[in-house]
Amino acid sequence: MSQALDEIKIGGLGASRKRVEDNRFIRGRGNYTDDIALPGMLHMEILRSPLAHARIKSIDASRAWDIPGVHLVLTGEMMATRNLAWMPTLSYDTQAVLATDKVRFQGQEVACVIADDPYIAKDACEAIEVEYEPLPVIVNPEQAVAEGAPVIRDDKDNQRDNVIYDWEVGDAAGTERAFAQADVISKLRLHYPRSHPSPIECCGSIADFNRATSKLTVYMTTQAPHIIRAAVALVAELPEHMIRIISPDIGGGFGNKVPVYPGYVCSILASILLERPVKWIEDKTGNLISTGFARDIYLDGEMALRQDGKILAVRMRCDADHGAFFSDAQPSKFKIGLLHSAFAAYDIPVAHLAARGTYSNKAPGGVAYRCSFRVTEAMFFQERMMQAAADDLGLDQAEFRRMNFVKDADFPHRTPFGFLTDSGQYAKCLDVGLKAIGYEDFRREQAEARKRGRLLGLGISTMTEPLGAGNSREYDILGIKMFDSAELKVHMTGKAIVRTGARTQGQGHETTWAQIVSHELGIPAEDVVVEEGDTDTAPFGMGTYASRSTPVAGAAVAMVARKIRAKARRLAAHLLEVSEEDVEWELGRFYVRSAPDRGVTIQECAMAAYSNMPDGMEPGLENTAYYDPPNLTWPFAVYIVTVEVDPETGVWDVLKLVAVDDCGVRINPMIVEGQIMGGLTEAYAMANMQFITFDAEGNCVGSNYMDYLLPTAWETPGFELHSEVVTPCPHHPIGAKGIGECAAVGGPAAYVNAVMDALSGTGVRNIDMPLLPDRVWEAITYRRDVSGAPPVRSDD
Ligand code: CDP
Repeated sequence: MSQALDEIKIGGLGASRKRVEDNRFIRGRGNYTDDIALPGMLHMEILRSPLAHARIKSIDASRAWDIPGVHLVLTGEMMATRNLAWMPTLSYDTQAVLATDKVRFQGQEVACVIADDPYIAKDACEAIEVEYEPLPVIVNPEQAVAEGAPVIRDDKDNQRDNVIYDWEVGDAAGTERAFAQADVISKLRLHYPRSHPSPIECCGSIADFNRATSKLTVYMTTQAPHIIRAAVALVAELPEHMIRIISPDIGGGFGNKVPVYPGYVCSILASILLERPVKWIEDKTGNLISTGFARDIYLDGEMALRQDGKILAVRMRCDADHGAFFSDAQPSKFKIGLLHSAFAAYDIPVAHLAARGTYSNKAPGGVAYRCSFRVTEAMFFQERMMQAAADDLGLDQAEFRRMNFVKDADFPHRTPFGFLTDSGQYAKCLDVGLKAIGYEDFRREQAEARKRGRLLGLGISTMTEPLGAGNSREYDILGIKMFDSAELKVHMTGKAIVRTGARTQGQGHETTWAQIVSHELGIPAEDVVVEEGDTDTAPFGMGTYASRSTPVAGAAVAMVARKIRAKARRLAAHLLEVSEEDVEWELGRFYVRSAPDRGVTIQECAMAAYSNMPDGMEPGLENTAYYDPPNLTWPFAVYIVTVEVDPETGVWDVLKLVAVDDCGVRINPMIVEGQIMGGLTEAYAMANMQFITFDAEGNCVGSNYMDYLLPTAWETPGFELHSEVVTPCPHHPIGAKGIGECAAVGGPAAYVNAVMDALSGTGVRNIDMPLLPDRVWEAITYRRDVSGAPPVRSDD
């Protein structure tokens, strides 16, 4: 009779264990950067540029210096004397820390004041007089490459225009040949607008340089503490072992907290100069206008089709507006992130993508907002294109997708752009979704409603996301290979601590990593504490973004637990006085194969590791694992939305949303559902209401929470989630695939496709997000496409 522990009861794999971190969060006891107060701490505020493009003629800070309570005023000129006016970005470009020659976007950092409190610092910022000479402004790629366009990055020696890169991938000639064979060529052009991750907690840092120990400690809102430590070592030329980055609780990151921001650098320099802790906490407007934006890309594509619906080839062109500095945080090898993960779920023989990146007078953009490096744009284009192609062929939306899916038996599958996907049950997910939404009935209802002037629509979106960068062969940031790590220490009483190189921002790692340990060792999850975010204690890791935590750090947790189990087996053999080969494992316990009643628990092994180890065995029960994934993980999902559009006002309401997510083995089903709901909510916000853009002068329009709306429970639709399709990842130690971003990635196209479906027959092919009522109304009324590309009128 097995004496294995009940895995669900001990909080192992598959247990919907309540999030342990919520004990402090819902009591208001989280410890965020702004909660930290150090003795003698000063406060820093940033003066930002009101103009998008202007030469700086002079900066007079004398009035600011005179204000009582001001300790330091930093300007670009002063930074330059320390070689800190510019810093390297994560994409091999440079970015101004404080402007010296020109300002290049509205909101750019021009000067900093460090004072006794933030109010004095803010007042002193206003006392700084800056004389600007305005320059012509560029707010889109077309303007960037126009004849006679001003060169935004005239600070760079060899930069004669505004082009950052021209990059291509795929088979251009093969694609050309396939297009020549096509019966039908379907075309689509769209703009995926700038959107902002806009976490509830803004960015901030507290730098604390201790002259006596020469040690710099920085508390910082960062998703990737070890990368920041490396960047600080390089930028500030400080020895790495004298830098400690601590990322306390983070109030949401979504990619916004990956880059290195000027505020971090200035607070560090100020602390070094003043030998006192210096705190900088960004305000909401500062966060919205100056920190990492996402998207802002123009996609233009064609699909070569056979009359029967077979997709022969895809051609994509993309113009990416990166803002004033190319500061994307993404693998070095891929200039436009993983945009070429598009069409991975469909069996398409050949494809080609050409991407051009340009500078503009906008805040640096391109961070992966809840997505794996541009995969959101890829999936959006893919699913909008699939809808347009099915319509052009007169085929059913679901059938067109199904017939082109990669079949279950065809894995591993090489995508048209060269990725290798490993597993999935795409048609099954679609079937579950169609049944849940009541596909046939809805189509009938839609046709009936149309006769009475009611506009109903149904949108399908599928997504497959490449999650878990690396492997290290292909994925690096600034040459640092992408892998991750976990350290596990089992104390003598069998309680444990696990540390990883990832950093949770609300995803629940403190709960789920303990569940993996529990699954591997049978130690109850409540006996395992999880710690992340301190570079002095956590093993090296590349941080948390691109839903890489479970695929990489989570795998490292499983692997280190297996190392611990291997040692515990030797301890068990010693305790049971048998040879190791005679010892069997069941959850929580080793036993003698020939006498299953004779066994020892993992806790007894832990005690023996400190009190009764065999001769010659190294004492203790702890280890570290570095995990370099063999491949990305490829979760899959189908999202189906039905809507009703009011033709009089352009307002649209979601009638029903069905989500079928296959993320392999679910560690914690409740947390996975939370991740999906969060993603669908953000997707809804992007599709429906989040408006942040630029006018012709480069003013950031919508840089406040009156325009850039965060969805609340009031306007967010209900979701019906389905979890019945589970395709374990064949190479992940516990079969898990990432999930954190999937719904934010795949969701937007489902909403937009639903509205476009409601408008079918009107000749309208595209409305750019957000699908604000006035845009939908314009499309219905004038039967024309509606572009959301900047510049917008200032009064929009
Ligand atoms: O990197 P990030 O934490 O943002 O994303 P993730 O690895 O997809 O994980 C998000 C949350 O869902 C974590 O708490 C995971 O452990 C959990 N998860 C899960 O329970 N089962 C999966 N198959 C994937 C993620």
